[in-house]
Amino acid sequence: MVANLKTMFTILTGAQFGDEGKGKLVDLLAENYDVVVRFQGGDNAGHTVVVGGKKYKLHLVPSGAIFGRRLLIGPGVVLNPRVLWSEIQALESEGIKLDIGIDAKTTIIMPYHIELDGLREKARTEKIGTTNRGIGFAYVDKTAREEVQMGDLTDPARLEAKLQEIGPAKEKAIADMGGDPTVVRYAPFIDEYLEIGRRLKERVTDVSREINIALIEEKNVLAEGAQGAFLDVIHGTQKFVTSSFTTAGSACANLGVGPVMVDNVVGVIKAYITRVGEGPMPTELKDEMGLQMREKGGEYGTTTGRARRCGWFDAVLGLKSVYLNGYTELALTKLDVLTGIDPIKICIGYELDGEQLGYPPEATADLARCQPIYEDMPGWTEDISEIIEYDDLPANARAYVERLEDLLGVGISAVSVGPGREQTIYRDEPED
Ligand code: GDP
Ligand code: IMO
Ligand code: MG
Repeated sequence: MVANLKTMFTILTGAQFGDEGKGKLVDLLAENYDVVVRFQGGDNAGHTVVVGGKKYKLHLVPSGAIFGRRLLIGPGVVLNPRVLWSEIQALESEGIKLDIGIDAKTTIIMPYHIELDGLREKARTEKIGTTNRGIGFAYVDKTAREEVQMGDLTDPARLEAKLQEIGPAKEKAIADMGGDPTVVRYAPFIDEYLEIGRRLKERVTDVSREINIALIEEKNVLAEGAQGAFLDVIHGTQKFVTSSFTTAGSACANLGVGPVMVDNVVGVIKAYITRVGEGPMPTELKDEMGLQMREKGGEYGTTTGRARRCGWFDAVLGLKSVYLNGYTELALTKLDVLTGIDPIKICIGYELDGEQLGYPPEATADLARCQPIYEDMPGWTEDISEIIEYDDLPANARAYVERLEDLLGVGISAVSVGPGREQTIYRDEPED
């Protein structure tokens, strides 16, 4: 896969509903990259990296941390400074030295965004099931031009002026929803944010400039997506989505890098599908099989601990994800979780109102009514979690991988068979 580099700028995104295993793949790829950068989302993300049996759960710090790469947080991220600061401290206390830069324009998640997220969710008759991290309300403020930026936290007078300007509207919004408006200008919170700003001051940078210079100097840059294609605020299953642009194209706009600079787009895709929070998922299994996948795959949220909903691989959604992202290659994760299941089903189409569909309908309500059409694949029983050569996989496991490639029209260049770095099978590059 792209680990055998001749490349400079790679974008990696989640191809499903998030939690595909992006953290593991970014950590692996980071060995061959100089810079790893987050371009969207916030601490709603939970990216797991397992190295030498030790588990790191990263929410804001990019997953190239363990390899000691230059880490960047781009201006398209919504950043809770408390979470970032405690993550930096936790990693550094374990001896991981971080070389991290945060863009001055990064939107800051304020305590009132979290308050608003909670109040709004409580008031909804039909819940979204947000992570309650204030993500949506922080992005609302960015678009409404009422945001606090990273640069404001390093300048107390500027933060004060900004809160004077935008504070009253926030207080009214919270009061109207039955919340406590004093959270907006609560002095201890502001002092704490300013203190974190003071500590992070030396790490504030211009991410677009850094990345462009890195590319001019022929360094390798890896953009780490958060969430997944169907949580995208434009192309996902609205309203059950996050509030950022999660597909590959968003990396260029959010980072301030021209689109012609992109060399590779890697999609991370799980061998089955999961979703945490509400919203349609046509292949969801509400039976024993779904529970078995959850337990075997450890499908509990990295950020909220919520149980993830599990289902069969959905190649109809998969194809849309390939279109949305323009993947040049795929990494298939968690194949080991399917060991012992026979047959394994793949959703190859939907039935909706008596018609067969090979591509998802646009309306979320229609997607929710789709009935999956399945194809059966024979399973395998051998433990595959220590296999490192593709040809050593059981024939039925290889047939499954290759069937997914056929259905998606993109090569699977890495197959992950466990959470550890070493539990990864790289496939040979095809001959030219
Ligand atoms: P992300 O949000 O896409 O980075 O994914 P998460 O970290 O939230 O969830 C993926 C989970 O699966 C983590 O606990 C990983 O350690 C684990 N994982 C990743 N790849 C594999 C794999 O191939 N097999 C198994 N069994 N677990 C994996
Ligand atoms: P990673 O990067 C899975 C989901 C939430 C909820 C919806 C909106 O680890 O793959 P939000 O708090 O963003 O407003 O919630 O999006 N969600 C995720 N699901 N993985 C994630 O991130 C997610 N980030 C948000 O559960 O349904
Ligand atoms: Mg996750």
